[in-house]
Amino acid sequence: MRSPCLKSLSITLIVALSTFAPRQGLAASPEPVKAEHGMVVTAQHLASDIGVEVLKKGGNAIDAAVAVGYALAVVYPTAGNIGGGGFMTIRFKDGKTTFLDFRERAPLAATKTMYLDDKGDLVEGLSTEGYLAVGVPGPVMGFEFTRSRYGTKPLKELIDPAIELAREGFVLQQGDIESFDGKTERLARDPAAAAIFLKPDGKPFAAGDRLVQTDLAASLSSIAEKGTDAFYKGAIADAIVKASADKGGILAKEDFERYQVRELEPVKCNYRGYDIVSSPPPSSGGLIICEILNILEGYPLSYLGYGSAETVHAMIEAMRHAYVDRNTALGDPAFVENPAAKLVDKSYAKEIRAKIDPFKAGVSQELMPAGFTESKETTHYSIIDDEGNAVAVTYTLNGSFGAGIVAPGTGILLNNEMDDFTAKPGTPNLYGLVQGEANAIEPGKTPLSSMSPTIISRDGKPFMVIGSPGGARIITITLEAIINVIDHGMNIQEAVDAPRVHHQWLPDKVFMEPYALSPDTRKLLSAMGHDVQVDENWMIWGQAAGILVGGENVAEIEAGGGARYSGAVDSRIGAGAARGY
Ligand code: DON
Repeated sequence: MRSPCLKSLSITLIVALSTFAPRQGLAASPEPVKAEHGMVVTAQHLASDIGVEVLKKGGNAIDAAVAVGYALAVVYPTAGNIGGGGFMTIRFKDGKTTFLDFRERAPLAATKTMYLDDKGDLVEGLSTEGYLAVGVPGPVMGFEFTRSRYGTKPLKELIDPAIELAREGFVLQQGDIESFDGKTERLARDPAAAAIFLKPDGKPFAAGDRLVQTDLAASLSSIAEKGTDAFYKGAIADAIVKASADKGGILAKEDFERYQVRELEPVKCNYRGYDIVSSPPPSSGGLIICEILNILEGYPLSYLGYGSAETVHAMIEAMRHAYVDRNTALGDPAFVENPAAKLVDKSYAKEIRAKIDPFKAGVSQELMPAGFTESKETTHYSIIDDEGNAVAVTYTLNGSFGAGIVAPGTGILLNNEMDDFTAKPGTPNLYGLVQGEANAIEPGKTPLSSMSPTIISRDGKPFMVIGSPGGARIITITLEAIINVIDHGMNIQEAVDAPRVHHQWLPDKVFMEPYALSPDTRKLLSAMGHDVQVDENWMIWGQAAGILVGGENVAEIEAGGGARYSGAVDSRIGAGAARGY
């Protein structure tokens, strides 16, 4: 193993070695899916089929994204949704970009201390289970806002396939069943959820069973007919508000009537000549990905190699520093001043690099900002059309099946996004994130997210569409897919499959996916002072969905000889598919 020499290589050498690095991917990954006209990569194959059909019929990537969004709400109920929230990053064929925020907002009756008892202690489960955990949902407004502005097809045409799948049902395959694993007890607690997502005898669905969602079909039909009013002003809002009131929640009709989508300027940065466009606050994703990439730009990752102790050390230290900023400084831009310019500034990255000891792990406690004390479902899909319009969407119910509740009669699973707020400063949330005041609960505020739908271009042309679920790890999962392609020469399938590592400042641990690091590498990292732990919970390692343009990897793109679009769905996803035409 080479001795740590992170600072000694000249920039010229770094650039030279980056350009000519040998391919270091995983031989075991299948080939990416190739296509010439359009590509849709989602976590459920039926949704991918629906997206491609929209493109084939002349719809653009935005139309396909709307159709896929509704379809996943039916065929991927653990995360696809209209009762949660999400983000959409768009890069149009002319190079312009935009970002849609249709994430949940805190109900008007929410308070900073709503999840604490009289003694100021967190009441376990309040922010994750039942109606108190629910933020005001955004996807129906988000999809319609985006379709009417940037789509070309009528809503009915885009939502009809989802209605049919809900009404007629679809046969569950092994990959679908995986997302129901271990959820029986939770779903059984809510009779309306149990009636849909468990069999009449209370048992979980098995492969070969048909999942029919009659109430959801009716809700979707009323949206097709009456538009967003059906959800925000009509019977659906009424049903959710009533169920919430009956079960101790605080959702009010006014919360729904006031819901608005925000169209925001995406975060932009440049990494080794590639232009990155990603999610701005209320997501932390884009800023923190850019901050980490800016730090890593100073290290010859390509030369050091995928999975080497030096590469992992640099990545972990960059993550450690950036997650301090994520967890302490960021929040909803309508409520707090985010230091966005600073976080994407290359000179700030340089300052951080100067603090990183190439031989020794940092200590998270030493990075604790003054006054700060320390005391999981989502899905991503990536689409590109024949004209080159690219769309990246990450949307979520937060935990698997959200709060595990369905307002009777609606068929709509509701989120537990309120848990993404700082319920109590210094206390970890569902994803172990220890957060501060900037993300405190306030009426109408949006909780800080890690969702990072990202589009990368090079020389003015689209290069990569990428994103993932994974809670706090979304940022590092997306980041690792990017550096796997750019620095390590992997093809898009290898890049999303490669085992991952993660650090989020607190707890001060390096989490590694099984087999991500060899025993020798682990020893080297431990000797530097890293506390490396294998995390076998595969659910938390995300499910990336990516597209590369012009070839399956950088070498092929640079040689100019690849398929126009290469798509890859993470092999961790049981039911997903990349489909092109
Ligand atoms: O917005 C966020 O950051 C979280 N609510 C995402 C949750 C998630 O990715 C769950 N999936 N594994």
